Amino acid sequence: MGVLPPSLDPIVTGAEIIDKPPVTYEDVGGLEGQMRELREAVEDPLLKPDLYRKVGIEPPKGVLLVGPPGTGKTLLAKAVANRTQATFIRFVGSELVQKYIGEGARLVRELFQLAREKAPSIVFIDELDSVGAKRLEVATSGDREVQRTLMQLLAELDGFNPLGEVKIIGATNRPDILDEALLRPGRFDRIIEISMPGVESRMTIFKIHTRKMNVAADVEYAGLASKSDGATGADIHAICTEAGMFAIREDREVVSMADFERAVDKVLGDNPIRSADSSGAMYA
Ligand SMILES: Nc1ncnc2c1ncn2[C@@H]1O[C@H](COP(=O)(O)OP(=O)(O)OP(=O)(O)O)[C@@H](O)[C@H]1O
Ligand SMILES: [Mg+2]
Repeated sequence: MGVLPPSLDPIVTGAEIIDKPPVTYEDVGGLEGQMRELREAVEDPLLKPDLYRKVGIEPPKGVLLVGPPGTGKTLLAKAVANRTQATFIRFVGSELVQKYIGEGARLVRELFQLAREKAPSIVFIDELDSVGAKRLEVATSGDREVQRTLMQLLAELDGFNPLGEVKIIGATNRPDILDEALLRPGRFDRIIEISMPGVESRMTIFKIHTRKMNVAADVEYAGLASKSDGATGADIHAICTEAGMFAIREDREVVSMADFERAVDKVLGDNPIRSADSSGAMYA
């Protein structure tokens, strides 16, 4: 926290906003294309603005990562943060709404001020839908507060030059509820889709999450990948943890293929929360 200028309000300094998360590219399975696109869109304009001027095009101001829950959007942004030379300022939309009631708009203003002071910088707004949902006609006072926060965010996005030294990354799993105003040119004008992992990516993700595990020689990653069709990266992480729990329950130090297979069934098969989640029945 010592890096923050004293001029800023404690509400900003109290939030964990400047961070270099301990996530590296090696922690992200699949998504190579998306990773390259993200770095090109945010880092190149910061590091080589003259090239853009000479070619005569404007880089995107904001990049939006869009994809289902648990597919690695937050992870990807953190991995880019870890590698970039720029200051990385991160805030989470849902926290903005829940923790800083009545202060959202001010916090957004101060975060962007901080980004300009610390430029070159990248502002990452995670769970953008929490502050960027469509504005409704009839609104409660809580909705109105969120709308004020969104208006401030739009004003900040409009207030700087695309060739300037601040770039924005947003992430959401609900692009369908985003206010269209956010997607207009000059705001989040580049969309990067993060899709469900294919079989190759699932295998890589299994390898990532078992890196620190004591895994038996019979564990066969290709088999696990093909058995876990429809699993996200987050599901695979849960499967690996469950597999380890099965071993511990039987007092074994080594996790076997059978443990992983049971874990796949447990996480993807008969988990009531998961199946209710996809059908929506439990929350109806
Ligand atoms: N591509 C991936 N490679 C490795 N691990 C992954 C991947 N995707 C997800 N995970 C695992 O799942 C966890 C959750 O992923 P993450 O938070 O990035 O999802 P998200 O896309 O941001 O989801 P949400 O939309 O719910 O915010 C990660 O911390 C990681 O352990
Ligand atoms: Mg996320």
